[in-house]
Amino acid sequence: MSSKLIGPALSRVDGRLKVTGKATYAAEYNPPGMVYAAIVQSTVPRGSVLRMQTTEAERAPGVLAVLTPRNTPKLPGADKYVANPIMPRLAAMQDSEVLYNGQPIGVVVADSFERATHAASLVRTFYVEKPAALDIEAGFASAEPAPGNFGAPPPGHTRGDVTAALAAASTRVDATYTTPTENHNPMEPHAAIAVWDDAEHLTLYDANQGVHFVRMFLSQLFGLVPDNVRIISRYVGGGFGCKALPWSHSILSVLAAKAVGRPVKLVLTRQQMFSLVGYRPQTIQKVELAANAQGKLTALRHTGFSETSEKDGFSEPFTNTSNMLYACPNVHTSQKVVRLNAGTPTFMRGPGESPGTFALESALDELAHSLKMDPLELRRINHADKDPEHNRPWTSKSLLECYRVGAERFGWKKRPLQPRATRDGEVLIGSGMATALFPAMRFPCVAVTRVLADGSAVVQCAAADIGTGAYTVFAQVAADALGLPLEKVRMELGDTTLPLGPLAGGSASTASASPAIQSASTQARQQLVKLAIEDTGSPLHGLAAQDVLAENGRLLSRKDKNKGETYAQILARKQLPHVEGKADSTPTPPDQQKHSGYAFGAHFVEVRVDEALGTVRISRFVTSMAAGRILNAKTARSQILGGVIFGLGMALTEETLRDPRLGRVMTADLADYHLPVHADVPDIDVHFVEEMDPHVNAMGIKGIGEIGTTGVAAAVANAVFHATGKRVRELPITLDKLL
Ligand code: MOS
Repeated sequence: MSSKLIGPALSRVDGRLKVTGKATYAAEYNPPGMVYAAIVQSTVPRGSVLRMQTTEAERAPGVLAVLTPRNTPKLPGADKYVANPIMPRLAAMQDSEVLYNGQPIGVVVADSFERATHAASLVRTFYVEKPAALDIEAGFASAEPAPGNFGAPPPGHTRGDVTAALAAASTRVDATYTTPTENHNPMEPHAAIAVWDDAEHLTLYDANQGVHFVRMFLSQLFGLVPDNVRIISRYVGGGFGCKALPWSHSILSVLAAKAVGRPVKLVLTRQQMFSLVGYRPQTIQKVELAANAQGKLTALRHTGFSETSEKDGFSEPFTNTSNMLYACPNVHTSQKVVRLNAGTPTFMRGPGESPGTFALESALDELAHSLKMDPLELRRINHADKDPEHNRPWTSKSLLECYRVGAERFGWKKRPLQPRATRDGEVLIGSGMATALFPAMRFPCVAVTRVLADGSAVVQCAAADIGTGAYTVFAQVAADALGLPLEKVRMELGDTTLPLGPLAGGSASTASASPAIQSASTQARQQLVKLAIEDTGSPLHGLAAQDVLAENGRLLSRKDKNKGETYAQILARKQLPHVEGKADSTPTPPDQQKHSGYAFGAHFVEVRVDEALGTVRISRFVTSMAAGRILNAKTARSQILGGVIFGLGMALTEETLRDPRLGRVMTADLADYHLPVHADVPDIDVHFVEEMDPHVNAMGIKGIGEIGTTGVAAAVANAVFHATGKRVRELPITLDKLL
């Protein structure tokens, strides 16, 4: 690999398309005859729909159809769909049961979005109400063991004897931490346009994080042959986990399109983003730690609860990081879920890791305080040199270097050990740190590279670019392997007619697709070499393959760089339309791997807390990350910036509140759900520690989409403690908690 294309801070290849409005997002297609749908939502948390008065809506101008639980067609694969533990059971109005406030109970189709929305407001619904479960604490006694999501094992781990070790310890922490319900707020709300090409063929333009993943569920649900379902999602305005699975609007758009015999567009409003798609469930976590006088951890117990919906299982696996982050001989983790009348939760950036590290990394800070030890030193002392959960080596780990570099850039040495030691008038200043981590995962992936007659290349893979820069880094990988300038490579992503691509989730997209793209592109280049050296008409005829270089769209002799020809010339002489390489980089299952792969990092943060007002301002933020090979310094930095800002929202402002009597989300817009804005975010110093990982995958790539968020909330809470002497164990750290 040359260093020219792999690594540098290159701008996005699709940047111009995006800023000029030429990148087409899901809601921007206009199939002929398209009409518009609006969803009617329940206004009670539990019960059943007794009757819906739809006449007024049906008579409203432009209305083509009103679907209710009574007349919605049955889905052939609904049972299979329902059986999936993390699908919204009642997403598609298959019966009249109401399980949460805001559940879809009707769809109005009209000739404009405005008319559909207006008519939806005219539908009157009468319910038989039933008592609802809305309080997570009231559900502790009847909580169930947490399920694993999507076939993952249920969270939980035991090694050693944690009870005995806790009893024997001289220094202990025993604290409960809570994180609220949170909602994803990508810039682009969910959107779908459903087109029935005929009775058996469906096309869905859909904002999602992985077209093949969405197709798998929709084809099951509608009883269609997967190959007859085409999902198109070429540009996506942010995902964060909520666009991983298809939610009600995607399914309902397909049902509505069938009902009216025309393409149907269904776009969620910002408000509907808080009830019609999943969310991060609230957690209540208890962490117990014990250490000896030198600060060596002797026991770690991490247990707790997260919420889920009445009938669907989804657990926020917040204890996973406690199993492996520190060397500790006695560990026990287990989790339960409480069923509430709320929508079904789902993955949200660092699912498990983000809330889990808030608890664990806060508890570590509390332990350091009890031991009168520097919290960074405590983490160094407990560094896990191998994975203590699976008792196997890491693919690579540069966490100690992240600690060192981060501390140096931050100036951690100058930090006083005691809290409340620094003030600037009314403002208390403190600093805190936390460890960040995320598993290095991969999904199956196939890529096809073609070098075309004009000497340019097209690379196909049904991966997704959800705003992360995937188009750019994939093009870099291909161009590098092909010996082409970046602008001569065209990436095609986000369409199920392309070869199987990974979900842009689990921080796994780049690591999944890049090795396949590299291998497919290398094969295409090797075919060009073969064509040239075997052809008496080529100036390279007779050379050994290893004596041929590929540069700037030309093959040339290593020994005599004046001797060569272009890819276009080679193909023209052979009268070939293209050469093609194809590669499959499907990974080995995690349980068969010999190493454990994780990206690690460290956050260092300085806060300024107004003592009179309780307001917290972030004044400095340094983050150092070791995540294997970095393909593009600019897009990678942007990923970490975005991740950290996501974490700052989690730390200080984000909280979804439901009405305790009706279970309706009360913070269902960006005025009430507080995301960090520019004024809340300081200049963030992002540093990547160089890391060559020989084991994690063929290119040594780990993910960077989620790690930036993990640990941030704890680093902020720890800094707030250091500034004020107040330990806030309940996110978000709003001013009322500091007064
Ligand atoms: Mo991400 S929460 O794994 O889509």
